[in-house]
Amino acid sequence: MCGIVAAAAGSNIVPVLVEGLKKLEYRGYDSAGLAVIGQNGIERVRSVGRVAELESASAATHSPTGIAHTRWATHGIPCERNAHPHVSGAIAVVHNGIIENYESLRQELSAQGYVFTSDTDTESIAHLVQATLQDEPDLFQAVRLACQRLVGAYAIAVIDHSQPGRIVVAREGSPLLLGVSDTGNYAASDASALLQVTRNMVYLENGDVAELTADKVRIARLDGTPVERPIHVSQLSAAAVELGTFRHYMQKEIFEQPDALANTLEIVGGSKTIQPGIFGADAGQLLAGVDSILILACGTSAHSGYTARYWLEAIAGVPCAVEIASEYRYRVSVPNPRQLIVAISQSGETADTLAALRHAKELGQPKTLAICNVPESAIVRESALRFITRAGPEIGVASTKAFTTQLAALFLLTLVMAKVKGRLAPEQESTFIDQLRHLPVAVNKVLELEDAIEVWAKRFADKHHALFLGRGRHYPIALEGALKLKEISYIHAEAYPAGELKHGPLALVDANMPVISVAPNDQLLDKLKSNLKEVQARGGELYVFADADSEIPESEGVHILRLPEHYGELSPILHVIPLQLLSYHAALVKGTDVDKPRNLAKSVTVE
Ligand code: G6P
Repeated sequence: MCGIVAAAAGSNIVPVLVEGLKKLEYRGYDSAGLAVIGQNGIERVRSVGRVAELESASAATHSPTGIAHTRWATHGIPCERNAHPHVSGAIAVVHNGIIENYESLRQELSAQGYVFTSDTDTESIAHLVQATLQDEPDLFQAVRLACQRLVGAYAIAVIDHSQPGRIVVAREGSPLLLGVSDTGNYAASDASALLQVTRNMVYLENGDVAELTADKVRIARLDGTPVERPIHVSQLSAAAVELGTFRHYMQKEIFEQPDALANTLEIVGGSKTIQPGIFGADAGQLLAGVDSILILACGTSAHSGYTARYWLEAIAGVPCAVEIASEYRYRVSVPNPRQLIVAISQSGETADTLAALRHAKELGQPKTLAICNVPESAIVRESALRFITRAGPEIGVASTKAFTTQLAALFLLTLVMAKVKGRLAPEQESTFIDQLRHLPVAVNKVLELEDAIEVWAKRFADKHHALFLGRGRHYPIALEGALKLKEISYIHAEAYPAGELKHGPLALVDANMPVISVAPNDQLLDKLKSNLKEVQARGGELYVFADADSEIPESEGVHILRLPEHYGELSPILHVIPLQLLSYHAALVKGTDVDKPRNLAKSVTVE
């Protein structure tokens, strides 16, 4: 998970850059670097390993303007050559995120004579800015124009030796904020890196470009329109996680999903193939003998397991069962030593999941894999294989970004199992990897539905019950939508596979029972449409989350919101997001304690 720090001040900023990087170390990294505007050109220092080594290596470097970076390897191995900043002529760039069109940019820029010295996607940005500067000599404008050509998620900071005292930054999908003060102006991936110099933070929005000098900050949109962003005074204490411009951690965490997914998927990097090794050094050998999978989890984590079952059976052809951990641990089951036990947990400390994992091992099931957000947790330590989601700290009790990153991890597991079973053609593998890589951008677009969802949520204020419907791999998404709504708004909610409606829940449907339906454009859409007609015929009020091309018309009692992209197998990851937003806004209308709902705990370490 890369980290960025940039500083323009009246005196030497190298200690500020280094101190800022130290504060970002928690994000995880394998190399670090900085570049400053020196007397005779860009001075760059890079090192593989800890920030402390960079600190020693840069002891003699002095400048009032510079950028710095911690890199978590994606495109290219961790080594000095691939460490940021990347340089093209007089400019240097640091970057967090994934540039999806870097290969075509690389070809285009190589043809123009630019020489690439690293394997990174970032170097394309450096040369692209340099190429743009040939026609547009102003750095701010050149970065703005260059960003218009980037596809993917990014936060960047750029300096130019021929334009001293200036730093230009931009963000789309990856986090970046500014720190402003009387003695200098700064940028960083999160506020903790800048508290050493200021508490006054300006949160950039996607599509913002900003220029910092020691005494001035200006911000514009990518089309050049100037914008003002408010200053927030950070209340962050050393240990806390910043709320920023958000009202609640849950809202913040919903909006962090593009970044959480990008960070989780950094492990795939620029590769066109995926290897078992992402689950641990022994994964190739351990997975080779697996004949089935049993997923054990609780709450939201169990819902990611239910979704994965559809993927694992359809794509990898591996029989898969999902069981609530508290049930499995106490029932008599038939052990199968060739079965892979997958324990899914955000915290890695949930008592039932941990006990279920231990129970499986005691029964003689040694093949275990933890999918978890906390690397040092008990469930990770006690599993043979592990995949660490990189969602970052999740504070809201209702799990959001942990869920979508678990889904991304489980899709990677599906691809690995499909490969192990010889069921994944290279073209299919590369298409799936491209779709995964595009997810942060796709999620960003879905988040734009928030205002429309807020309008819907107001209609839930006087409701006491709600029904969620889905089919196929979106049935677990309906389950997750119902769980979210009940846990934070206290509205009783149930989820059904839409085909089950006529076997009972239809009896409950009337004008007071909102029916929320997940309706992606897949092979079950026509069947789902018939189920929706059954609701409509009973006077039920339908709220449908469709895809752009789902062709369900809006009519009396049928409200439709369309997701911008139709996302095939990965569609559940997009379709859960409006349900998270709906619950969040319904809870706001109800006036509940969103982040700490009554009677619930974040980490349930008791039975
Ligand atoms: C609690 C939390 C849920 C979470 C569940 C499982 O109930 O409130 O948000 O899904 O525990 O937690 P885990 O850490 O194992 O994913």
